[in-house]
Amino acid sequence: MPNRRIFLKSAATTALAAATTRLHPLLAESKKRSPNDMIQLALIGAGIQGQGDTNFALQVPGVKLVAVADCYDGRLAHAKELWGSDLFTTRDYNEILKRSDVDAVLIATPDHWHRQAAVDSIKAGKDVYLEKPMIHIYPDGPEIINAVKNSKQILQVGSQRVSSVVYAKAKELLAAGAIGKLNMVTARWDRNSSIGAWNYSVPLDASTETCDWPRFEGSAPKMAWNPERFFQWRKWADYGSGVAGDLFVHLFSGTHFITGAHGPTRAMATGGIRYWNDGRDAKDVLLALFDYPEGFNLSLHVNFVDGGEESEGFLFTGSEGLMEISGRTVTVTRTPIASEPGYTVSTFAEAQQKAYLEKYREKYPVKHPEGTPPRDVEAYTAPPGYVDSYDHFHNFFNSVRSRKPVVEDATFGFRAAGAALLSNLSVEKDSIVHWNPETMTIV
Ligand SMILES: NC(=O)c1ccc[n+]([C@@H]2O[C@H](COP(=O)([O-])OP(=O)(O)OC[C@H]3O[C@@H](n4cnc5c(N)ncnc54)[C@H](O)[C@@H]3O)[C@@H](O)[C@H]2O)c1
Repeated sequence: MPNRRIFLKSAATTALAAATTRLHPLLAESKKRSPNDMIQLALIGAGIQGQGDTNFALQVPGVKLVAVADCYDGRLAHAKELWGSDLFTTRDYNEILKRSDVDAVLIATPDHWHRQAAVDSIKAGKDVYLEKPMIHIYPDGPEIINAVKNSKQILQVGSQRVSSVVYAKAKELLAAGAIGKLNMVTARWDRNSSIGAWNYSVPLDASTETCDWPRFEGSAPKMAWNPERFFQWRKWADYGSGVAGDLFVHLFSGTHFITGAHGPTRAMATGGIRYWNDGRDAKDVLLALFDYPEGFNLSLHVNFVDGGEESEGFLFTGSEGLMEISGRTVTVTRTPIASEPGYTVSTFAEAQQKAYLEKYREKYPVKHPEGTPPRDVEAYTAPPGYVDSYDHFHNFFNSVRSRKPVVEDATFGFRAAGAALLSNLSVEKDSIVHWNPETMTIV
Protein backbone atom coordinates (compact mmCIF):
# COMPACT_ATOMS: atom_id res chain seq x y z
CA MET A 1 0.00 0.00 0.00
CA PRO A 2 1.36 3.47 -0.77
CA ASN A 3 2.19 5.55 2.24
CA ARG A 4 -1.14 7.15 3.04
CA ARG A 5 0.28 10.49 4.06
CA ILE A 6 2.17 10.87 0.80
CA PHE A 7 -0.89 9.72 -1.11
CA LEU A 8 -3.09 12.28 0.62
CA LYS A 9 -0.54 14.98 0.02
CA SER A 10 -0.55 14.31 -3.70
CA ALA A 11 -4.35 14.18 -3.69
CA ALA A 12 -4.32 17.53 -1.91
CA THR A 13 -1.96 19.02 -4.44
CA THR A 14 -4.24 17.98 -7.30
CA ALA A 15 -7.29 19.47 -5.61
CA LEU A 16 -5.48 22.65 -4.78
CA ALA A 17 -4.28 22.97 -8.35
CA ALA A 18 -7.85 22.47 -9.53
CA ALA A 19 -9.04 25.00 -6.99
CA THR A 20 -6.51 27.52 -8.18
CA THR A 21 -7.67 27.21 -11.79
CA ARG A 22 -11.27 27.52 -10.70
CA LEU A 23 -10.45 30.43 -8.48
CA HIS A 24 -9.41 32.71 -11.24
CA PRO A 25 -12.01 32.19 -13.92
CA LEU A 26 -11.93 35.87 -14.73
CA LEU A 27 -8.39 35.37 -15.96
CA ALA A 28 -9.14 32.02 -17.54
CA GLU A 29 -12.07 33.50 -19.43
CA SER A 30 -10.48 36.65 -20.63
CA LYS A 31 -11.17 35.62 -24.25
CA LYS A 32 -13.70 37.94 -25.86
CA ARG A 33 -17.30 36.80 -26.04
CA SER A 34 -19.55 37.67 -28.92
CA PRO A 35 -22.69 39.65 -28.01
CA ASN A 36 -24.74 36.52 -28.88
CA ASP A 37 -22.85 34.66 -26.23
CA MET A 38 -24.13 37.02 -23.52
CA ILE A 39 -26.52 35.33 -21.08
CA GLN A 40 -29.37 37.69 -20.23
CA LEU A 41 -30.51 37.12 -16.67
CA ALA A 42 -33.61 38.16 -14.74
CA LEU A 43 -34.05 38.10 -10.98
CA ILE A 44 -37.31 36.93 -9.39
CA GLY A 45 -37.32 37.85 -5.70
CA ALA A 46 -34.91 40.72 -5.09
CA GLY A 47 -34.55 40.42 -1.33
CA ILE A 48 -31.45 39.74 0.75
CA GLN A 49 -30.33 36.60 -1.07
CA GLY A 50 -31.60 37.65 -4.49
CA GLN A 51 -29.52 40.83 -4.43
CA GLY A 52 -26.46 39.03 -3.03
CA ASP A 53 -26.77 36.20 -5.58
CA THR A 54 -27.15 38.65 -8.45
CA ASN A 55 -23.95 40.42 -7.46
CA PHE A 56 -22.09 37.08 -7.67
CA ALA A 57 -23.85 36.09 -10.90
CA LEU A 58 -22.83 39.36 -12.55
CA GLN A 59 -19.17 38.73 -11.73
CA VAL A 60 -19.25 35.76 -14.09
CA PRO A 61 -18.09 37.00 -17.49
CA GLY A 62 -20.76 37.22 -20.18
CA VAL A 63 -23.77 37.67 -17.89
CA LYS A 64 -26.08 40.69 -18.00
CA LEU A 65 -29.05 41.50 -15.77
CA VAL A 66 -32.04 42.75 -17.77
CA ALA A 67 -35.06 42.52 -15.47
CA VAL A 68 -36.13 42.20 -11.84
CA ALA A 69 -39.44 41.17 -10.25
CA ASP A 70 -40.30 41.69 -6.60
CA CYS A 71 -43.38 42.31 -4.45
CA TYR A 72 -41.90 45.22 -2.48
CA ASP A 73 -41.42 48.48 -4.40
CA GLY A 74 -38.44 49.44 -2.23
CA ARG A 75 -36.52 46.43 -3.52
CA LEU A 76 -37.37 47.25 -7.13
CA ALA A 77 -36.15 50.80 -6.50
CA HIS A 78 -32.93 49.49 -4.97
CA ALA A 79 -32.42 47.13 -7.91
CA LYS A 80 -32.33 50.19 -10.19
CA GLU A 81 -29.94 51.92 -7.76
CA LEU A 82 -27.65 48.87 -7.86
CA TRP A 83 -27.82 47.82 -11.49
CA GLY A 84 -28.98 50.82 -13.51
CA SER A 85 -32.10 52.85 -14.10
CA ASP A 86 -32.74 51.17 -17.47
CA LEU A 87 -33.46 47.86 -15.74
CA PHE A 88 -36.99 46.53 -16.37
CA THR A 89 -38.73 46.09 -13.01
CA THR A 90 -42.14 44.68 -12.18
CA ARG A 91 -44.17 43.20 -9.34
CA ASP A 92 -45.37 40.40 -11.63
CA TYR A 93 -42.72 37.90 -12.70
CA ASN A 94 -44.93 36.73 -15.59
CA GLU A 95 -44.02 39.97 -17.35
CA ILE A 96 -40.40 38.87 -17.18
CA LEU A 97 -41.15 35.38 -18.41
CA LYS A 98 -42.89 36.86 -21.50
CA ARG A 99 -39.72 38.69 -22.51
CA SER A 100 -37.72 37.07 -25.29
CA ASP A 101 -34.51 38.80 -24.16
CA VAL A 102 -34.40 36.77 -20.91
CA ASP A 103 -32.40 33.52 -21.18
CA ALA A 104 -32.23 32.54 -17.53
CA VAL A 105 -33.90 33.45 -14.25
CA LEU A 106 -32.59 33.47 -10.72
CA ILE A 107 -35.41 32.61 -8.31
CA ALA A 108 -34.87 33.85 -4.75
CA THR A 109 -38.43 34.23 -3.52
CA PRO A 110 -39.62 32.81 -0.20
CA ASP A 111 -39.84 29.00 -0.36
CA HIS A 112 -43.62 28.80 -0.89
CA TRP A 113 -43.11 30.39 -4.34
CA HIS A 114 -40.23 28.14 -5.46
CA ARG A 115 -42.30 25.45 -7.24
CA GLN A 116 -44.66 27.85 -9.02
CA ALA A 117 -41.96 30.28 -10.12
CA ALA A 118 -39.65 27.46 -11.28
CA VAL A 119 -42.35 25.59 -13.22
CA ASP A 120 -43.65 28.81 -14.83
CA SER A 121 -40.10 29.78 -15.83
CA ILE A 122 -39.33 26.37 -17.34
CA LYS A 123 -42.61 26.41 -19.26
CA ALA A 124 -41.67 29.85 -20.58
CA GLY A 125 -38.40 28.39 -21.91
CA LYS A 126 -36.06 29.96 -19.36
CA ASP A 127 -33.14 28.24 -17.65
CA VAL A 128 -33.44 28.42 -13.88
CA TYR A 129 -31.17 28.95 -10.90
CA LEU A 130 -33.49 28.10 -8.00
CA GLU A 131 -32.51 28.97 -4.45
CA LYS A 132 -32.52 26.29 -1.77
CA PRO A 133 -34.52 24.65 -0.29
CA MET A 134 -35.84 23.41 -3.64
CA ILE A 135 -39.20 22.52 -2.11
CA HIS A 136 -41.55 23.96 0.46
CA ILE A 137 -43.77 20.87 0.69
CA TYR A 138 -43.15 17.34 -0.62
CA PRO A 139 -45.37 17.47 -3.76
CA ASP A 140 -43.19 20.35 -5.05
CA GLY A 141 -40.31 17.89 -5.65
CA PRO A 142 -41.77 15.61 -8.34
CA GLU A 143 -43.48 18.58 -9.99
CA ILE A 144 -40.23 20.49 -10.43
CA ILE A 145 -38.31 17.36 -11.50
CA ASN A 146 -40.95 16.50 -14.12
CA ALA A 147 -41.16 20.04 -15.42
CA VAL A 148 -37.41 19.97 -16.08
CA LYS A 149 -37.57 16.46 -17.57
CA ASN A 150 -40.31 17.46 -19.98
CA SER A 151 -38.41 20.50 -21.19
CA LYS A 152 -35.12 21.44 -22.78
CA GLN A 153 -34.34 23.75 -19.88
CA ILE A 154 -31.62 23.62 -17.27
CA LEU A 155 -32.33 23.95 -13.57
CA GLN A 156 -29.68 24.26 -10.90
CA VAL A 157 -30.50 24.42 -7.21
CA GLY A 158 -28.69 27.06 -5.18
CA SER A 159 -26.81 25.19 -2.46
CA GLN A 160 -23.46 26.76 -3.19
CA ARG A 161 -21.47 24.28 -1.08
CA VAL A 162 -21.88 21.77 -3.90
CA SER A 163 -19.48 23.92 -5.94
CA SER A 164 -17.09 24.68 -3.08
CA VAL A 165 -13.43 23.72 -3.37
CA VAL A 166 -13.47 23.02 0.37
CA TYR A 167 -16.22 20.43 -0.01
CA ALA A 168 -14.56 19.04 -3.15
CA LYS A 169 -11.42 18.54 -1.05
CA ALA A 170 -13.40 16.76 1.66
CA LYS A 171 -15.06 14.53 -0.94
CA GLU A 172 -11.70 13.64 -2.42
CA LEU A 173 -10.15 12.89 0.97
CA LEU A 174 -13.04 10.67 2.02
CA ALA A 175 -12.87 8.74 -1.26
CA ALA A 176 -9.10 8.38 -0.85
CA GLY A 177 -9.68 6.61 2.47
CA ALA A 178 -8.27 9.42 4.61
CA ILE A 179 -10.44 8.48 7.58
CA GLY A 180 -11.19 4.86 6.69
CA LYS A 181 -14.80 3.74 6.62
CA LEU A 182 -17.29 6.52 7.39
CA ASN A 183 -19.36 5.69 10.48
CA MET A 184 -20.92 8.97 11.53
CA VAL A 185 -21.42 12.56 10.43
CA THR A 186 -22.21 15.29 12.93
CA ALA A 187 -23.21 18.71 11.68
CA ARG A 188 -24.24 21.80 13.56
CA TRP A 189 -25.31 25.34 12.90
CA ASP A 190 -25.65 27.62 15.89
CA ARG A 191 -26.84 31.16 15.27
CA ASN A 192 -26.90 33.18 18.39
CA SER A 193 -28.11 36.57 17.32
CA SER A 194 -31.43 38.18 16.62
CA ILE A 195 -30.61 38.42 12.91
CA GLY A 196 -29.49 34.78 12.99
CA ALA A 197 -32.98 34.01 14.31
CA TRP A 198 -34.51 35.68 11.22
CA ASN A 199 -35.64 38.98 12.82
CA TYR A 200 -34.96 40.85 9.59
CA SER A 201 -35.74 44.58 9.43
CA VAL A 202 -39.18 45.72 8.32
CA PRO A 203 -38.81 48.93 6.26
CA LEU A 204 -40.54 52.03 7.60
CA ASP A 205 -42.58 52.42 4.40
CA ALA A 206 -43.94 48.84 4.48
CA SER A 207 -47.67 49.00 3.68
CA THR A 208 -50.21 47.53 1.30
CA GLU A 209 -49.31 50.40 -1.04
CA THR A 210 -45.62 49.50 -1.27
CA CYS A 211 -45.96 45.73 -0.81
CA ASP A 212 -48.03 43.47 -3.06
CA TRP A 213 -49.36 41.36 -0.17
CA PRO A 214 -51.80 39.20 -2.22
CA ARG A 215 -49.04 38.36 -4.69
CA PHE A 216 -46.61 37.59 -1.86
CA GLU A 217 -49.20 35.26 -0.24
CA GLY A 218 -49.70 33.31 -3.46
CA SER A 219 -50.90 29.81 -2.54
CA ALA A 220 -50.34 30.39 1.22
CA PRO A 221 -53.37 30.69 3.52
CA LYS A 222 -54.92 34.16 3.18
CA MET A 223 -54.31 36.53 6.09
CA ALA A 224 -54.72 40.23 6.78
CA TRP A 225 -51.67 42.33 5.80
CA ASN A 226 -48.82 41.49 8.15
CA PRO A 227 -45.44 43.16 7.57
CA GLU A 228 -43.61 40.68 9.84
CA ARG A 229 -44.89 37.80 7.75
CA PHE A 230 -43.82 39.61 4.58
CA PHE A 231 -40.27 40.47 5.68
CA GLN A 232 -39.62 37.72 8.25
CA TRP A 233 -41.46 34.89 6.46
CA ARG A 234 -39.04 32.16 7.64
CA LYS A 235 -40.70 32.24 11.05
CA TRP A 236 -43.93 30.70 9.67
CA ALA A 237 -44.55 27.33 8.06
CA ASP A 238 -46.97 28.97 5.60
CA TYR A 239 -43.96 30.33 3.69
CA GLY A 240 -40.87 28.42 4.82
CA SER A 241 -40.01 25.18 6.60
CA GLY A 242 -38.12 26.53 9.58
CA VAL A 243 -34.65 25.44 10.53
CA ALA A 244 -35.05 22.24 8.48
CA GLY A 245 -35.56 23.93 5.11
CA ASP A 246 -33.43 26.97 5.84
CA LEU A 247 -30.36 25.41 7.41
CA PHE A 248 -30.48 21.60 7.62
CA VAL A 249 -30.81 21.57 3.85
CA HIS A 250 -27.29 23.05 3.51
CA LEU A 251 -25.97 20.34 5.82
CA PHE A 252 -27.69 17.67 3.71
CA SER A 253 -26.38 19.12 0.45
CA GLY A 254 -22.88 19.08 1.95
CA THR A 255 -23.19 15.55 3.33
CA HIS A 256 -24.67 14.16 0.11
CA PHE A 257 -22.09 15.87 -2.07
CA ILE A 258 -19.16 14.69 0.05
CA THR A 259 -20.34 11.11 0.62
CA GLY A 260 -22.19 10.55 -2.65
CA ALA A 261 -25.15 9.26 -0.59
CA HIS A 262 -28.66 9.87 -1.92
CA GLY A 263 -30.31 10.29 1.45
CA PRO A 264 -31.36 8.74 4.71
CA THR A 265 -33.89 5.94 5.13
CA ARG A 266 -34.96 6.75 8.70
CA ALA A 267 -35.25 10.02 10.61
CA MET A 268 -36.18 11.10 14.10
CA ALA A 269 -36.21 14.64 15.40
CA THR A 270 -37.18 16.80 18.31
CA GLY A 271 -37.09 20.49 19.11
CA GLY A 272 -39.06 23.45 20.29
CA ILE A 273 -39.33 27.20 20.61
CA ARG A 274 -36.98 27.76 23.55
CA TYR A 275 -36.23 31.46 23.38
CA TRP A 276 -37.88 33.33 20.50
CA ASN A 277 -41.48 33.32 21.75
CA ASP A 278 -42.38 36.14 19.39
CA GLY A 279 -45.37 34.65 17.57
CA ARG A 280 -43.37 32.43 15.20
CA ASP A 281 -44.31 28.79 14.67
CA ALA A 282 -40.82 27.70 13.51
CA LYS A 283 -38.69 26.06 16.18
CA ASP A 284 -35.47 27.72 17.33
CA VAL A 285 -33.88 24.45 18.50
CA LEU A 286 -34.02 21.36 16.29
CA LEU A 287 -32.11 18.11 16.78
CA ALA A 288 -32.37 15.27 14.33
CA LEU A 289 -30.83 11.85 13.69
CA PHE A 290 -30.75 10.01 10.36
CA ASP A 291 -29.76 6.48 9.26
CA TYR A 292 -28.03 6.16 5.90
CA PRO A 293 -28.13 2.88 3.94
CA GLU A 294 -24.40 3.34 3.24
CA GLY A 295 -23.81 2.41 6.89
CA PHE A 296 -23.39 5.74 8.64
CA ASN A 297 -25.51 7.95 10.87
CA LEU A 298 -26.02 11.67 10.57
CA SER A 299 -26.79 13.87 13.52
CA LEU A 300 -27.82 17.49 12.96
CA HIS A 301 -28.62 20.29 15.28
CA VAL A 302 -29.40 23.93 14.92
CA ASN A 303 -30.01 26.30 17.76
CA PHE A 304 -30.55 30.02 17.92
CA VAL A 305 -30.22 30.33 21.64
CA ASP A 306 -27.03 29.08 23.29
CA GLY A 307 -25.50 32.49 23.80
CA GLY A 308 -22.15 31.50 22.30
CA GLU A 309 -20.38 32.27 19.06
CA GLU A 310 -22.09 31.63 15.73
CA SER A 311 -20.76 28.30 14.61
CA GLU A 312 -21.32 25.96 11.69
CA GLY A 313 -19.46 22.81 10.82
CA PHE A 314 -19.22 19.13 10.04
CA LEU A 315 -17.36 16.30 11.73
CA PHE A 316 -16.97 13.08 9.72
CA THR A 317 -16.03 10.19 11.99
CA GLY A 318 -14.33 7.27 10.26
CA SER A 319 -12.79 4.00 11.38
CA GLU A 320 -9.32 5.53 11.13
CA GLY A 321 -9.76 9.19 11.91
CA LEU A 322 -11.79 12.38 11.82
CA MET A 323 -12.41 14.93 9.08
CA GLU A 324 -13.67 18.32 10.13
CA ILE A 325 -15.00 21.11 7.93
CA SER A 326 -14.99 24.50 9.54
CA GLY A 327 -15.23 27.65 7.44
CA ARG A 328 -12.71 27.46 4.60
CA THR A 329 -10.71 24.61 6.16
CA VAL A 330 -10.87 20.81 6.05
CA THR A 331 -8.80 19.09 8.73
CA VAL A 332 -8.07 15.38 8.77
CA THR A 333 -6.88 13.85 12.03
CA ARG A 334 -5.77 10.26 11.66
CA THR A 335 -5.52 8.09 14.72
CA PRO A 336 -3.24 5.07 14.21
CA ILE A 337 -5.25 1.89 14.59
CA ALA A 338 -4.36 0.23 17.92
CA SER A 339 -1.94 -2.64 17.35
CA GLU A 340 -2.73 -4.27 20.70
CA PRO A 341 -6.03 -4.89 22.52
CA GLY A 342 -5.13 -3.24 25.87
CA TYR A 343 -5.86 -4.58 29.34
CA THR A 344 -8.01 -3.86 32.38
CA VAL A 345 -6.27 -5.78 35.18
CA SER A 346 -6.01 -3.29 38.05
CA THR A 347 -8.86 -4.89 40.01
CA PHE A 348 -7.17 -8.32 40.02
CA ALA A 349 -4.95 -9.53 42.87
CA GLU A 350 -1.42 -8.16 42.44
CA ALA A 351 0.14 -11.51 41.59
CA GLN A 352 -2.50 -12.00 38.88
CA GLN A 353 -1.87 -8.52 37.51
CA LYS A 354 1.86 -9.22 37.28
CA ALA A 355 1.39 -12.59 35.63
CA TYR A 356 -1.13 -11.19 33.17
CA LEU A 357 1.11 -8.28 32.19
CA GLU A 358 4.13 -10.52 31.68
CA LYS A 359 2.16 -12.77 29.36
CA TYR A 360 0.61 -9.75 27.62
CA ARG A 361 3.99 -8.15 26.91
CA GLU A 362 5.35 -11.44 25.56
CA LYS A 363 2.53 -11.41 23.04
CA TYR A 364 2.51 -7.61 22.43
CA PRO A 365 6.01 -6.16 22.90
CA VAL A 366 6.15 -2.37 23.52
CA LYS A 367 6.16 -0.79 20.05
CA HIS A 368 6.87 2.83 20.97
CA PRO A 369 9.15 2.95 24.06
CA GLU A 370 9.34 6.74 23.63
CA GLY A 371 5.52 7.04 24.01
CA THR A 372 2.52 6.93 21.66
CA PRO A 373 3.28 8.85 18.44
CA PRO A 374 1.32 12.08 18.02
CA ARG A 375 -1.85 12.03 15.99
CA ASP A 376 -1.35 12.79 12.33
CA VAL A 377 -3.09 16.08 11.47
CA GLU A 378 -3.31 17.71 8.06
CA ALA A 379 -5.35 20.73 7.08
CA TYR A 380 -6.34 22.23 3.73
CA THR A 381 -7.59 25.79 3.53
CA ALA A 382 -9.18 27.48 0.54
CA PRO A 383 -7.27 30.60 -0.56
CA PRO A 384 -8.19 33.89 1.15
CA GLY A 385 -11.27 35.53 -0.31
CA TYR A 386 -12.56 32.27 -1.81
CA VAL A 387 -16.34 32.39 -2.38
CA ASP A 388 -18.25 29.23 -3.28
CA SER A 389 -21.33 31.22 -4.44
CA TYR A 390 -19.29 32.62 -7.31
CA ASP A 391 -18.23 29.10 -8.34
CA HIS A 392 -21.82 27.88 -8.12
CA PHE A 393 -22.97 30.60 -10.55
CA HIS A 394 -19.98 30.00 -12.74
CA ASN A 395 -20.95 26.32 -12.98
CA PHE A 396 -24.57 27.23 -13.69
CA PHE A 397 -23.74 29.60 -16.54
CA ASN A 398 -21.30 27.03 -17.97
CA SER A 399 -24.21 24.58 -18.20
CA VAL A 400 -26.47 27.25 -19.70
CA ARG A 401 -23.89 27.74 -22.44
CA SER A 402 -22.84 24.13 -22.97
CA ARG A 403 -26.26 22.49 -22.25
CA LYS A 404 -24.26 19.96 -20.21
CA PRO A 405 -25.64 18.73 -16.84
CA VAL A 406 -25.58 21.14 -13.91
CA VAL A 407 -23.65 20.40 -10.70
CA GLU A 408 -26.82 20.39 -8.59
CA ASP A 409 -29.92 19.25 -10.44
CA ALA A 410 -33.53 19.03 -9.28
CA THR A 411 -33.12 15.43 -8.12
CA PHE A 412 -30.15 16.37 -5.93
CA GLY A 413 -32.10 19.38 -4.66
CA PHE A 414 -35.16 17.29 -3.81
CA ARG A 415 -33.05 14.62 -2.09
CA ALA A 416 -31.46 17.28 0.14
CA ALA A 417 -34.64 19.23 0.90
CA GLY A 418 -36.80 16.09 1.16
CA ALA A 419 -34.37 14.65 3.73
CA ALA A 420 -34.34 17.94 5.66
CA LEU A 421 -38.14 18.11 5.84
CA LEU A 422 -38.24 14.63 7.41
CA SER A 423 -37.20 16.41 10.63
CA ASN A 424 -40.37 18.50 10.65
CA LEU A 425 -42.45 15.44 9.79
CA SER A 426 -40.93 13.45 12.65
CA VAL A 427 -41.60 16.26 15.14
CA GLU A 428 -45.13 16.67 13.83
CA LYS A 429 -45.91 12.93 13.98
CA ASP A 430 -43.97 12.46 17.23
CA SER A 431 -42.37 9.36 15.72
CA ILE A 432 -39.63 7.91 13.54
CA VAL A 433 -40.30 8.55 9.85
CA HIS A 434 -39.07 6.51 6.86
CA TRP A 435 -37.94 7.76 3.47
CA ASN A 436 -36.88 6.05 0.29
CA PRO A 437 -34.00 8.17 -1.04
CA GLU A 438 -34.04 6.44 -4.43
CA THR A 439 -37.71 6.99 -5.23
CA MET A 440 -37.75 10.14 -3.05
CA THR A 441 -40.95 9.14 -1.29
CA ILE A 442 -42.10 8.93 2.31
CA VAL A 443 -42.54 5.27 3.20
N1 LIG B 1 -28.09 29.70 -0.66
C1 LIG B 1 -28.06 30.37 0.47
O1 LIG B 1 -27.08 30.35 1.22
C2 LIG B 1 -29.26 31.19 0.86
C3 LIG B 1 -29.12 32.18 1.84
C4 LIG B 1 -30.24 32.96 2.15
C5 LIG B 1 -31.45 32.70 1.52
N2 LIG B 1 -31.56 31.71 0.61
C6 LIG B 1 -32.85 31.41 -0.03
O2 LIG B 1 -33.21 32.52 -0.85
C7 LIG B 1 -34.61 32.70 -0.84
C8 LIG B 1 -34.93 34.15 -0.47
O3 LIG B 1 -34.47 34.42 0.84
P1 LIG B 1 -34.21 35.92 1.33
O4 LIG B 1 -33.51 35.87 2.60
O5 LIG B 1 -33.59 36.67 0.23
O6 LIG B 1 -35.70 36.45 1.55
P2 LIG B 1 -36.21 37.95 1.44
O7 LIG B 1 -37.48 38.02 2.17
O8 LIG B 1 -35.12 38.89 1.81
O9 LIG B 1 -36.47 38.13 -0.13
C9 LIG B 1 -37.51 37.48 -0.80
C10 LIG B 1 -38.06 38.48 -1.81
O10 LIG B 1 -38.98 37.78 -2.64
C11 LIG B 1 -40.03 38.67 -2.95
N3 LIG B 1 -41.19 37.91 -3.41
C12 LIG B 1 -42.11 37.23 -2.70
N4 LIG B 1 -43.00 36.64 -3.50
C13 LIG B 1 -42.64 36.99 -4.76
C14 LIG B 1 -43.19 36.72 -6.05
N5 LIG B 1 -44.29 35.97 -6.20
N6 LIG B 1 -42.57 37.24 -7.13
C15 LIG B 1 -41.47 38.01 -7.00
N7 LIG B 1 -40.92 38.30 -5.81
C16 LIG B 1 -41.48 37.78 -4.72
C17 LIG B 1 -40.26 39.44 -1.68
O11 LIG B 1 -40.90 40.65 -1.93
C18 LIG B 1 -38.84 39.62 -1.16
O12 LIG B 1 -38.27 40.85 -1.52
C19 LIG B 1 -35.17 31.68 0.14
O13 LIG B 1 -35.67 30.57 -0.54
C20 LIG B 1 -33.99 31.30 0.99
O14 LIG B 1 -34.05 29.97 1.49
C21 LIG B 1 -30.48 30.97 0.25
